[in-house]
Order: sequence, then structure tokens, then C-alpha cells
Amino acid sequence: MAQILDGRLVAKELKARLRQRVEELRARGVAPTLVLVRVGEDPASGVYLRAKGKACKAVGIESRLVHFPEDVSGDTLRAEVRDLCREAAVHGVVVQLPLPAHIDEDEIIATLDPAKDVDGFHPHNLGLLCLGSPRFVPATPLGILRILDYYDIDLDGRPVVVVGRSRIVGRPLANLLSAKRTPGNATVTLCHSRTRNLGDVTRGAEILIVAAGQKGLISAEMVSPEAVVIDVGMHREPDPDRPGKERLCGDVDFAALADRVRAITPVPGGVGPMTVACLLENTVVAAESGPPGPRHQE
Ligand code: GUN
Repeated sequence: MAQILDGRLVAKELKARLRQRVEELRARGVAPTLVLVRVGEDPASGVYLRAKGKACKAVGIESRLVHFPEDVSGDTLRAEVRDLCREAAVHGVVVQLPLPAHIDEDEIIATLDPAKDVDGFHPHNLGLLCLGSPRFVPATPLGILRILDYYDIDLDGRPVVVVGRSRIVGRPLANLLSAKRTPGNATVTLCHSRTRNLGDVTRGAEILIVAAGQKGLISAEMVSPEAVVIDVGMHREPDPDRPGKERLCGDVDFAALADRVRAITPVPGGVGPMTVACLLENTVVAAESGPPGPRHQE
């Protein structure tokens, strides 16, 4: 049986440390504050934002949900996001993705103040990350690095395969893992939906990270028995133990891999809790950085 990499445990310990840092900030008269922006009624976004709000409360971060209707214009949303970033008491602003199709996500993200972009999605922040000196590492990649570190999984020189090239996970993660530092120094292959013979590539991974957004993409014969598997997927499927009900599952066939590989993250209870905890960490870092310098101009 594979070792289970318990994201809930790592997140719990991280949040305990964050609670202390928040107390120290509050003792200095700083109340770390995160604004969560939701547009429309995407149910998954509602679930994620509720989890983020609840986690903020648990560590003492103030959070505020600002909810816009589905048909809000891109111009209005940009103006609102800009105003939120200008509030001195706000340390972080998250615009939950995806946005409705009529809104240009890149334009909205570019409107964020990079100093308050605790998701780390602004081109300025992704540029810093690519250059090897990140300010805010996006929460899911950061959470994955923290899990690997917690379980002493060495990356140095190892073959790591990342499946998925999104701005949120695959692309920044491949960059971080290959950076010339620790954690890093991995030999990274980035795969995606156009990769030919995906199994031939994934079988070569000592560490396989799957963030393709495709339920059950990775089957047992696609992994090495020596592999450490990190599953970033989050989907629903019928629950065989509870007729008529659903359960969460990932991009990986967990039941088939759990008997075969060296270590694996479960879904739920793997990467998900770390994503939330690392967003809190970025918010605390933003609050600790003190009052921002001259406001960025759009
Ligand atoms: N949608 C899916 N993951 C994320 C995330 O980490 N941040 C934001 N803002 N939206 C998301």
C-alpha cells in the first residue's frame, strides 16, 4: 500500500503557525484582510470561496466576499477590482476563476495591484516567479511544494512529470520545480492534452503531478511503482457505497494506484486543503510586508 500524503495534516500545522503570525500582526495593530471576489453563480466557485472564508476565520484573517451578478460588464468589474486594491486596509484581493465568458480574465487579473495579488496570477508576479525570485507563489503550486517538503521527498535532479499547463498550476509549478534552488533542481517534463503517448512519459516520472482537469486520466499502467503521485484534480462521481449520492475524485484512478505506487495524495484531503492554507499564507505575507509603496498604475 502506498504512503498516503495527508494534505489535511500539513495544512493544519501550517494554519497553526499562521494563527501565531496573525496574532503578532494584530498586536501591532494590523488586521490581515482578504477580499474574495465572486462573479455569477458558478457552484464550484461558491464552494471554494466558502472554504476560503471559513479558513480565514479559523486563523484570524478578516475576509469579505464581494459578489457581482453574472452579467456585470468587464469595465465595471475592472473599476471595482481597482477600487478594492486601493483600500489601505485590504492586504489581498482574490478574483475567483473562472469568470463568465464575456469577461476577459487576463484583463481583470492585470488590474490587480501586484502587491495585493495573493493568488500570484498577475503577469508581474508570474514574471518574478519565472525569473526565480517569486513574491507570491500561486497557492496550489506552493501547497504541492509544501507537501513534498513535509514528507521529505527529494526533487534534486529527479525526473518530475507535470501533466497540465494551466496558469494556475502546471505552468508555475514546472517553473518552480526546475528552478536552481531547493526545493527545485528537478528535471521537469511538462505534458498536456496534445502530448503523444502520455503513458510513456508519465511512466518515467519519479514524481508525477497531475493537474489536467480530467477525471481518471491516469491509470495504474501509466505510473512507475517507484512514483510519488500528486493529484490536483477535483471532480464528482457516483459513490458506489451510497446509491444516488456523489463523492469527490481526482485526475488519478486512486483505487488502482494506491496499491501500486510509493506515495500518493488522496482526493479529498490532499492538495485541496493545502491550496486554501497557502492562500492564507500569502495573505499573511502581504500583511507582514507593511503598507505598500506607491500604488501601481493601471
Ligand atoms: N479557480 C480555481 N483555482 C483557483 C485559485 O487558486 N484562485 C482563483 N482565484 N481562482 C481559482
